[in-house]
Amino acid sequence: MKISILASAIALFLPLAANAAEVSVQQETPAFMTNVYGRDYTLLNGKWNAIVDLYDQGLKMKIYENRTPQSKEEFYEYSFEGGLRLNVPGDWNSQAPELKYYEGTVWYARHFDASPVPGKRQFLYFGAVSYRCRVYLNGEEIASHEGGFTPFQVEVTDRLKDGDNFIAVEVNNRRTPDAIPALAFDWWNYGGITRDVMLITTPEVYIKDYFIQLDKNSPDVINASVTLSGTVSETVKIEIPELKISQELVTDGNGRASASFKVKKLRRWSPDDPKLYDVIVSSASDRVEESIGFRNISVDGTKILINGRPTFMRSISFHEEIPQRRGRAFSEADAVMLLSEARALGVNMVRLAHYPQNEYTVRLAEKMGIVLWQEIPIWQGIDFEDAGTQAKAQRMLTEMITRDKNRCAVGFWGVANETKPSDARNAFLTSLLETGKSIDTTRLYVAAFDLVFFNDKTRHFEMNDGFTSSLDVVAVNKYMGWYHPWPLDPTEAVWDVVPDKPLIISEFGGEALYGQSGDETVASSWSEDYQAKLYRDNIEMFRHIPNLAGVSPWILFDFRSPYRFHPTNQEDWNRKGLVSDQGYRKKAWYIMHDYYMDIKNNGR
Ligand code: GCU
Repeated sequence: MKISILASAIALFLPLAANAAEVSVQQETPAFMTNVYGRDYTLLNGKWNAIVDLYDQGLKMKIYENRTPQSKEEFYEYSFEGGLRLNVPGDWNSQAPELKYYEGTVWYARHFDASPVPGKRQFLYFGAVSYRCRVYLNGEEIASHEGGFTPFQVEVTDRLKDGDNFIAVEVNNRRTPDAIPALAFDWWNYGGITRDVMLITTPEVYIKDYFIQLDKNSPDVINASVTLSGTVSETVKIEIPELKISQELVTDGNGRASASFKVKKLRRWSPDDPKLYDVIVSSASDRVEESIGFRNISVDGTKILINGRPTFMRSISFHEEIPQRRGRAFSEADAVMLLSEARALGVNMVRLAHYPQNEYTVRLAEKMGIVLWQEIPIWQGIDFEDAGTQAKAQRMLTEMITRDKNRCAVGFWGVANETKPSDARNAFLTSLLETGKSIDTTRLYVAAFDLVFFNDKTRHFEMNDGFTSSLDVVAVNKYMGWYHPWPLDPTEAVWDVVPDKPLIISEFGGEALYGQSGDETVASSWSEDYQAKLYRDNIEMFRHIPNLAGVSPWILFDFRSPYRFHPTNQEDWNRKGLVSDQGYRKKAWYIMHDYYMDIKNNGR
């Protein structure tokens, strides 16, 4: 019996797998255990053997069986030994020049030592595989997953051999119309096993999930729920020693228990005081602990409140990419680099564009006091009419929220970026909001639109998109001075955009090649001078947006994109970074820094 995380993932492989029809089993909810880094795990990271399978023949050849000749007559036209080796985690594009643009299938494989442990269960866990994959253990297909930015796990308790085990992962990053993101997007289509791989050992009945966060509307009530892996009624315990909480609960027949705790002297997490508390969840045979922060985030009219205090979101965006390595970010060290540069700019928020990023980044942001906007890659051209695409989006959102629902740094769940109005889109996004709120009502739901236009009659910036009424916060991407020439002087700009809601400018900016000087009035100069003036002009415009609740320049670092064709100014790089691909700050960085310091020091 194969445990398919998503039935249609098999159907997505080209050609279809011969045994696709046998895919079975509904996905459990949640699909994976929470807080894997707090479990008993072994990392399976390191050098894996690899085979590039451009014509998708490996499946038919059953190379996952890893056969070797056993007689004089036998031969196999593959071997995982002695060929390409790839680092895991990591994208393949940045590891071999011939794979820079590669889109197709790559087989990863390795041996690892493990043994069944009496009375214990064992799981393989993947932090992310981009974009779709099938997993084979000791010659058997055991799982599949689609989606390049969220985790999945598969139980291997009864499949591990005693000693040497062989795992093969068939990874495919081809873009398809029904994928998320779909056929074209403004970032590199990295493929590979791009995050940690673990073998996790748990007790027979383990603590599968828990959700422990401050009540959305109370400054001193913590809501907690715990779910055991079995449908058993057992005593579980929740402890927050520093708050003198130690509470035993009995799970119901579904293995679930919940409670609310009124707490005294709670230091609520905030950007200025990122206080985290040790939390211990235990049961008869399991114990998991981690640091959790407690804060309120809400809206009041046109303001975003953190712990009841109006807070202007000084944000920045970055992709999950280390430009100097020309590859996807995946480690704690990568998270330190990205977030340190964001902190230096003076931010209290980061928009993790355009997909859930790795857990190291999320957890470090929480320690640093940086609020996060996380989103699934519903980016521009998505097939909103396709039921399969809808199901994928639901699952991706569920997986993102499942993984990070205990991360108080996450203040916003983003459900879309620059989607065009239509009944199908509205229905698609409405169902996403329903799904999200069925899991987590403690955070704000947001979407970014690029539909603000300048009305020549009223001479106001305006927007018509009925879907905004469904959101807590509305965000707008608007490239004044880059994609849109100024229709009037920035000092005269008047915005009349969702005036009754908080508005975040979730993207603005323009390109500049680091070190290139030129006429600050000529866009095609691709100069730092032009970008600097563009930032000054946009900051001036921001002063005339009455319901402005935050800004997030696009983007912190220059990033790779296959359709940024200019041969000298771009060379496959989107140059809107405030920092170059070599880590050098451009003139506009200092303008943005001064703007944020001014806001921070004036107590907004
Ligand atoms: C869009 C989009 C970004 C893109 C940016 C750009 O707004 O959201 O993903 O990179 O514009 O054109 O640079």
